[in-house]
Amino acid sequence: MGIISSSFVRNCWYVAGFSHDFPADRIESRKIAGDPVVLYRRSDGHLAALADRCAHRHAPLSLGRIEGDDLRCMYHGLKFSPDGTCVEIPGQDRIPDRSCVRSYPLVEKGGWVWIWMGHSDACDPGLIPPVCDFDDPEWVQSSGQLDYEAPYELINDNLLDLSHLAFVHADSFGATTGWSDRQPRHMLLDRGIRVERWIEAAPPIPPLPQLSASDTVDIRSCYEFHIPGIFLMRTSFHRTGAAKAANWGDPVDEELFAHYSCQSVTPIDMRRSRTLFSWGPGAAFGDRAMAQQMIAMADHAFREDKVIIEAQFANLDEESGVPMLATQADKPLTIFRGIMQKARNRERDGSVAEAAQAAVPTEVPPMAQAS
Ligand code: FES
Ligand SMILES: [Fe+2]
Repeated sequence: MGIISSSFVRNCWYVAGFSHDFPADRIESRKIAGDPVVLYRRSDGHLAALADRCAHRHAPLSLGRIEGDDLRCMYHGLKFSPDGTCVEIPGQDRIPDRSCVRSYPLVEKGGWVWIWMGHSDACDPGLIPPVCDFDDPEWVQSSGQLDYEAPYELINDNLLDLSHLAFVHADSFGATTGWSDRQPRHMLLDRGIRVERWIEAAPPIPPLPQLSASDTVDIRSCYEFHIPGIFLMRTSFHRTGAAKAANWGDPVDEELFAHYSCQSVTPIDMRRSRTLFSWGPGAAFGDRAMAQQMIAMADHAFREDKVIIEAQFANLDEESGVPMLATQADKPLTIFRGIMQKARNRERDGSVAEAAQAAVPTEVPPMAQAS
């Protein structure tokens, strides 16, 4: 199938979960980019991640037992340290070198858990995308999660083309065709793309209690999308007319309201994906109760995405041979797909260190400009 890649970008940080998904004394299993992974907290509270497959006869270590810092397989009792070294084989003194399991680098930061699925020599915490920490004083954030029976690339595509809001989310978000009738500006980042747009004289998303139902705002929506599927969106509301006053660039009018959302797309395997998301108001504009209302709204809206994306995947699965039609709105996702393909190519070509570096395409389609 042409638009679904046959491999993952591996030299990058995927979101394995939120910190609160991994309480002490609990063993969690995840499948990430096709790899079964077991995660648990060491006695000092740091998370460890190992291949969820015992070196002995491949039983899942997630059915094992935490012993201090180590994890014991509860089939025949092999014990592994957090770096994957086998430290005990019941009934024998000699521990062969190859009895280890793979360990994965992990970084836990601001409530997000990042896992490096690629070559350990290329691992660089500096490449973690700048998501909003849950303890960031500027924003109040709540969180959610949704799984898709669809490849992660289709979800990336969805987030890279917000013109779909006007159609998929017309009821849930009350989005108007203002989201689709003007092309956004976009620019390349080191490992992704930035997309900026104005939606003029539109109902606010989420609705603002201080406005009557007939009041509109100009919405400034800017997001970055980073390898491998990290979406960071800042949105602000301004008086109607603010877009024109700003010449459709950075706002010059005051913010009536602002909100921030981070969303991650993590492939489970080639056909399934997990999204984790945060959303909430600026601390100057709302509180935790508002953030929770917004997350409930997002959860409802993302289930609308899930319906159309899974149905799209079912169609793609039939491999009709009919080519897709490209539109102007496809530009950001086409560019991002180029960035991802270049990263895949570098990994395939074996340049481990280079693969982790900026992976921008050398040739970029012309930028669409807001008119
Ligand atoms: S399968 Fe794990 S100890 Fe045998
Ligand atoms: Fe959507």
